[in-house]
Amino acid sequence: MTRNLDARPQAPPQSGGDPTSDDLVLQALGLGLRYGSRDAFRGITLGVRRGRVLALVGPSGCGKTSFLSCLNRMTDLLPRCAIEGQVRLNGQDIHAEGFDVVGLRRRVGMIFQRPNPFPMSIRRNLEFPLREHGVRDKDTLEGTLEAALSDVGLWGEVKDRLETSALALSGGQQQRLCLARALALKPSVLLMDEPCSALDPLSSGVVEDLIDGLRERYTVVVVTHNLAQARRLADEVAVFWFQEGCGRVIEHGPVDQIFGAPRSEVTAAYVNGMRG
Ligand SMILES: Nc1ncnc2c1ncn2[C@@H]1O[C@H](COP(=O)(O)OP(=O)(O)O)[C@@H](O)[C@H]1O
Ligand SMILES: [Mg+2]
Repeated sequence: MTRNLDARPQAPPQSGGDPTSDDLVLQALGLGLRYGSRDAFRGITLGVRRGRVLALVGPSGCGKTSFLSCLNRMTDLLPRCAIEGQVRLNGQDIHAEGFDVVGLRRRVGMIFQRPNPFPMSIRRNLEFPLREHGVRDKDTLEGTLEAALSDVGLWGEVKDRLETSALALSGGQQQRLCLARALALKPSVLLMDEPCSALDPLSSGVVEDLIDGLRERYTVVVVTHNLAQARRLADEVAVFWFQEGCGRVIEHGPVDQIFGAPRSEVTAAYVNGMRG
């Protein structure tokens, strides 16, 4: 990845809260991302407060997944990808020289649209990342495994089959396992990219309830196409839109504003199901 440090814009003012507040755990400042010669999104200033759920909504192709990927430097893995602006975790620039990227990925966990358990046993799915992050003690591993699986309501379902392949679990169970795997690392922020969209309605409801239960203990940024879900889950909502050739945030604010009294006509039309 190349990084365009020269073109760092000043953070523009943004509705939905003061982005310099100490309360903001994770914050994007004038963030933009370019794949090759094409901007995916630009000029996004957006923060999420500790213990809150921020939902990102908007039509496909306006940069929501790309934005999420910047927040824990998953974009480092992509060639020809350039970032401008800043991302701050607890006030620290995550792109600063010497910033601990491995630690960043532990502190900012990610859940993808398609459940992606490792092709390993249920136990190894949880122990592998813990070992990677230096946890060796058997009792700690065992305790963390049980706590994480209990947190996602899986312990009772899998405690007698921990050595079997995670790939044999149902889609909903796999997604809960992925959530447990992220929680086992005790992150402070969880990024979720349409975590329910590949699941049947019942499993989707279970995962949604879990996300709801994470509120207060974790800070969550969740992309969802399901506006009813965004309304149920989110404290704040950011509406992404394709404008002037790339993705932008057209409105960001408390959930009641976005769904009850949107400031932008585009938001109003979108949340009322007229566009997008
Ligand atoms: N790895 C990539 N390489 C090049 N272009 C990409 C890549 N990922 C996404 N894009 C492009 O960036 C834009 C935003 O995509 P994405 O972040 O997936 O949007 P959304 O999640 O809102 O659907 C799209 O035009 C998409 O084609
Ligand atoms: Mg996406």
